Amino acid sequence: MCVRPYLNDYLSLLQQLTGTLALAVFAAALGSLQYGYSLGVINAPQKIIEKHYGRSLGVWSERVAALSENSTDKEKFSEAGQHPDVIKYWSLSVAIFSIGGMLSSFLVGFVGDLRGRVKGMLMVNVLAVAAGLLMGLCKMWKPHIMVISGRAVMGFYCGLTSGLVPMYIGEIAPKAYRGALGTLHQLAIVLGILISQVIGLDFVFGNDDMWPLLLGLSGAPAVLQSLLLPLCPESPRYLYIILGKDQEARKSLYRLKGAYDATFDLEEMRKEKEEADREPRVSILSLIRSSVYRQQLVVALMMHLSQQFSGINAIFYYSTAIFTRAGVGQPVYATIGVGVINTIFTLVSVALVDKAGRRTLTLVGLGGMCCCAVAMTVGLTLQDKYSWMSYVSMSAIFLFVSFFEIGPGPIPWFIVAELFSQGPRPAAIALAGCCNWTSNFIIGMTFPYIQTWLDSYVFILFAVLLLGFTVFIYFRVPETKDKSFKEIAALFQKGRKKSTQSPKDATELQQLKTATDA
Ligand code: GLC
Repeated sequence: MCVRPYLNDYLSLLQQLTGTLALAVFAAALGSLQYGYSLGVINAPQKIIEKHYGRSLGVWSERVAALSENSTDKEKFSEAGQHPDVIKYWSLSVAIFSIGGMLSSFLVGFVGDLRGRVKGMLMVNVLAVAAGLLMGLCKMWKPHIMVISGRAVMGFYCGLTSGLVPMYIGEIAPKAYRGALGTLHQLAIVLGILISQVIGLDFVFGNDDMWPLLLGLSGAPAVLQSLLLPLCPESPRYLYIILGKDQEARKSLYRLKGAYDATFDLEEMRKEKEEADREPRVSILSLIRSSVYRQQLVVALMMHLSQQFSGINAIFYYSTAIFTRAGVGQPVYATIGVGVINTIFTLVSVALVDKAGRRTLTLVGLGGMCCCAVAMTVGLTLQDKYSWMSYVSMSAIFLFVSFFEIGPGPIPWFIVAELFSQGPRPAAIALAGCCNWTSNFIIGMTFPYIQTWLDSYVFILFAVLLLGFTVFIYFRVPETKDKSFKEIAALFQKGRKKSTQSPKDATELQQLKTATDA
């Protein structure tokens, strides 16, 4: 593959970046970094934290007393680690993060519109700092309660930030590079995961003394972000379309783009405002009930379901345990390898997504992941017979993650905005976000139990789901690359075998508008 055209794209993107735009994108992406860090940080120190949970719950010392004098420390810890109470509190620590996100994802539109995108991101940082303190100081009280509370608050923060960041970046990015800058959200997430894996090494912070700091540091980017955000301009689209302040929007455009003729951008926003004023603002409930947007909604939700039920977070939350099972001697290093591959392939996706298209990359990604899940199962099942099979499982895990980042990882985050027009867009983003976080929760909570139940066949389950998603996307998802909102809507109408709107749909749209106006 020739990299020069992609390099040229990156260079021309850099030329268009003013200092203020770069600062604004960087400051916002610190929120995504924090999200990624919180996703990944829980992985490497699992055994150490389980030991402390065991101690605090009293099950560790009971077990120790029951064991013979000759048992090694390792045996004692692994015994305690497998106590049902420890498993329960550990699974909850992993999964409560998603419950927080599930609840707050509904509030993204409200927080973003309340005082603006910048002030919204600034306000919610209070949550991140509080969560960091709860986890960082967890040894002062019962660690399992402190960590679970901290993870819940952090999840709540991340549910908001995972909506606010793409919203702000999407609104301030120059039109030609909205896709590339938009994927920086996912890039920052994967970098956050990687950083957490590196500083989670036992000789850095992933050890008996420092693990609370490791968890507490997840609040650190919020401190830096709070210092930088006051220097960033508010989104011109928010100022003009929501508040109707055209002079302030103009000033913001100048700060972001330098001295230039803003007539074209202002005219574009004026049209967008007119359209937004004309369209009914659809509530979440009416969107669920409406048959007008049903196909788009099903596609949006399936994209997010496929992202989560691909099993990717089973790898990110539990890779250390999975690698140990695959017979890897140093599982934490293998986990870091996964983080590096993850970052590289997100960069590949940034370069490809506007050329190869969303549909193709999602199909290749999901299909590839399905094959890898089968290979992982073969490897895990046969590794006792043939030792080289552990290499098969290892390679399959790396490829699984690469295929994920090519398409199924980044695309669902921005395709929802492409599928819906201004009216139903906020409701659709909230629903898709909630669907993403709910499925994330289900995987986080149930994976250890499913693994105990299915043993080395656990990834067959994901292979079957991945096959189903691939078939669905092949038959139901159109390509949205290079298409206007009108063209995308027409694609779905064609799918409903009607070239014009049916009288039922027209009545329903009118009802939505009346309900909103009332
Ligand atoms: C996406 C997913 C997230 C996952 C991450 C891995 O952002 O939403 O759940 O952990 O990708 O790169």
